[in-house]
Amino acid sequence: MSVTEQPPPSPGPGPEPDGDGAAARLRDRISADSLTTRRDYLRIVATVSGGLAVGGVGVAAGILHRHGDSEALPEPKKVTDRLAPGQSVAFRFPGDEDRALAVRLSDGSLVGYSAVCTHLACAVLWREDRGADGELYCPCHEGVFDARTGEVTAGPPPRPLPKVFLTEQADGSVWALATSRSGEPAKEALCRQFGDSHPEAAQQLGCPGAGRGGASAPSEKGRT
Ligand code: FES
Repeated sequence: MSVTEQPPPSPGPGPEPDGDGAAARLRDRISADSLTTRRDYLRIVATVSGGLAVGGVGVAAGILHRHGDSEALPEPKKVTDRLAPGQSVAFRFPGDEDRALAVRLSDGSLVGYSAVCTHLACAVLWREDRGADGELYCPCHEGVFDARTGEVTAGPPPRPLPKVFLTEQADGSVWALATSRSGEPAKEALCRQFGDSHPEAAQQLGCPGAGRGGASAPSEKGRT
């Protein structure tokens, strides 16, 4: 999809799936905003690329990305209306030239990666027929990446594939939200991109410095 879209507004009032108090406070904050602004929010509800559940890093509530909060953040982008197990979809994110792949693994996990091989930048493809999870394959020099982690499993690529953080909305649509650098832990990537502009989210993630006047910059580990 070449046009960045904003997701539909959240459903009306009702209990959040996680029932967390922080989520309620965030919802209240949204309700206090104008309807126009409200449409610009996107809630990260469940999973990010690489199989990391947001709850897996201690975040029970959602994280909100408000369009325009930070110039450093790409706008959320709709990847597809639906993605069934075993299927993949190619898209561009965060820029129009940045090739990326979203894959639904056979167990339902949703993963997203840069589709630019870390060897010599050929296009990485999804091969469902290889192994239990399928694999990400670069035909140029037989490079292979683990579909669940993005790690190199064969061939000459020197580094893992950078991840694209995805979320699935209640209507089944899949959205790209942010990216990681090659080898950067998901929590660090989220803190780096959401920490300063979303202090409440940074606190939920356990970002360094969160709750003490803002999240500190993450380490430089994994920078591409
Ligand atoms: Fe991908 Fe060489 S460019 S393996």
